[in-house]
Amino acid sequence: MNRHFTTILDLTADEFMDIIDRSLAYKHRRYKNKKPLKNKSIGLFFEKPSTRTRVSFEVAIYELGGNTVNLNPKEMQIGRGETLQDTSRVLSRYLDGIVFRVLSHRTIQTFSECSTIPVINGLSDMYHPCQAIADMMTIKEFKGSLKGIKLAYVGDGNNVANSLIQSCAYADIELVLACPEEYNPDSNVIEEIQEKFKRDIRITADPFEAVKDADVVYTDVWVSMGQEGDKDKKIEILKDFQVNSTLMSHAKKDAIVLHCLPAYRGLEITDEVIDGQQSKVFDQAENRLHTAKAILEFLIK
Ligand code: CP
Ligand code: NVA
Repeated sequence: MNRHFTTILDLTADEFMDIIDRSLAYKHRRYKNKKPLKNKSIGLFFEKPSTRTRVSFEVAIYELGGNTVNLNPKEMQIGRGETLQDTSRVLSRYLDGIVFRVLSHRTIQTFSECSTIPVINGLSDMYHPCQAIADMMTIKEFKGSLKGIKLAYVGDGNNVANSLIQSCAYADIELVLACPEEYNPDSNVIEEIQEKFKRDIRITADPFEAVKDADVVYTDVWVSMGQEGDKDKKIEILKDFQVNSTLMSHAKKDAIVLHCLPAYRGLEITDEVIDGQQSKVFDQAENRLHTAKAILEFLIK
């Protein structure tokens, strides 16, 4: 059966854990890959800018023996009114998989419904599942295990937070989110996890309470792509949610700091923290490459 990866919950918990372990294995044998994508072509359809997602997927596909096809929506007939459904039916006849970065999650859902090739969500307004796999891999890499970990997410309750909520449920990580009331994570995501896993999602408006005894402190940009119109308002409301050294002094001494990047230094995180000893953000960014391989191998056999 054709599988898609549009949210973490498209995987079973076992598949999720297995992809994390396979990513670690890929990291340990970077240039000794088999070529599971030999003679396969993967489309990259990006409606928004990207550095990590685009480049890590392109390199992952190359290193696994496959070929990439860059799909710029502005240069396709979609821009002139061809439907997403017809585009999906046609691209399914040429490609073996497609990575999407979209403004609206609905675009990925509509495309996937007609797609006979695997669809990978490379970020939507709702989720960033590929990032969350790399985040879990990084925690396992530096903490040895996901068991018994406490993760504090501080800042905007956005797409990255939504995928972390789902991932922490699968990994049984204790998650506390510190978000202002105006920018809590999506209520449907929270309700779904509460129902499915019978666990409470802890949200506080106090970053100090959230980071207490945390093993991992995570933040993301305050103004996501597509939210530029709310920039000033968001910066004002989120100003007390900065990850700085005072906040870090309340986490465990050996806590690591994660950020999916790009970072806006001086807003959600200070230079001192992102460039400090506890920061693993560039390892986390590197891990996007290894996780991209494990995700592609899982979906495109
Ligand atoms: N973290 C991440 O997805 O980065 P890009 O926007 O550069 O792809
Ligand atoms: N929340 C951010 C993540 C960027 C990788 C955004 O959507 O812009």
